[in-house]
Amino acid sequence: MSPFTLTRTLPADATAAALRADVAEGLTATPKRLPPKWFYDARGSELFERITELPEYYPTRAEREILADRAAEIAAATGARTLVELGSGSSEKTRHLLRALTGLRCYLPVDVSESALAQAGEALLADHPDLSVRALVADFQAGFALPGDVPGPRLLAFLGGTVGNLLPAERAAFFATASGLLAPGDALLLGTDLVKDEATLVAAYDDAQGVTAEFNKNVLHVINRELGGDLDPAAFDHVALWDADHEWIEMRLRARTDLTAKITALDLVVPFAAGEEMRTEISAKFRKERVQSELAAAGLHTRGWWTDRAGRFALSLSVRA
Ligand code: SAH
Ligand code: TRP
Repeated sequence: MSPFTLTRTLPADATAAALRADVAEGLTATPKRLPPKWFYDARGSELFERITELPEYYPTRAEREILADRAAEIAAATGARTLVELGSGSSEKTRHLLRALTGLRCYLPVDVSESALAQAGEALLADHPDLSVRALVADFQAGFALPGDVPGPRLLAFLGGTVGNLLPAERAAFFATASGLLAPGDALLLGTDLVKDEATLVAAYDDAQGVTAEFNKNVLHVINRELGGDLDPAAFDHVALWDADHEWIEMRLRARTDLTAKITALDLVVPFAAGEEMRTEISAKFRKERVQSELAAAGLHTRGWWTDRAGRFALSLSVRA
């Protein structure tokens, strides 16, 4: 078997159908909204990689620091032979785990972005020629299954604070699904960004160079290309605000003027009033107690909790009861 395989679990037209349904629903709702997974076409994945290098965007550096310091401890606690990673993107931070997990046989990165998976797989194999890398193009919210022929124990990793991009009900469903994928002895490694002062949080999602604004507007490019839309990215402003009640950052696009957009493939005409905002993403921030109680509700018991030295970001390791 080739050491690198890439499997599409959904036919391309299923993705197109899901995008159509999400856009039709979101743009006719009040207030309007768009679901975040559509940020990540090839350009979106590249823009996200640029975000991770911005001076204001601390989560990637903080999580990398924890992984660099704790990978050996995590590896010893799990003894994983298979590592499954959800929303793996570039798999760049994962390298710390891949090096530390000395008994690892199989790495299964799962992402909606085929371009990110292909690039990451190629780069990894150069350094780990004996590792079997089995990439899956899949939506981790759509209840996918893992191949049954991978060796245990398995470690499921969900890094980058991406769990914070799920709404609370989606998050509970996600933890239940993740727990269901694990056998006794398997573990979940979860990255969560932590609640901190508002200025630091807002800057991380509204950088001075405007890369995050470009990323936020990329969803408009995706709709224009895939659904024949004419949403003008220059007609919208990027908005990032801290919602202190929900403890999440909310990303929005705000129409600069009254305007009308056409989405040809949906036969839809969408009016925007000047100043009207649509929500494109949330990024929830956590406290230790909340992470532990939400995991426990899904039958996952926290065995490890590590933060970076500045206490900005946490990694937790939990096991199936
Ligand atoms: N884990 C990486 C990337 C985080 S960005 C890091 O920590 O830097 C979020 C990643 O999740 C992107 O690669 C995006 O393509 C992927 N993603 C977002 N929603 C997804 C979904 N519903 N199913 C699968 N992958 C998803
Ligand atoms: N998982 C990342 C986060 O919540 C995703 C992200 C970073 C993001 N910056 C963004 C999503 C800007 C939308 C817009 O931190």
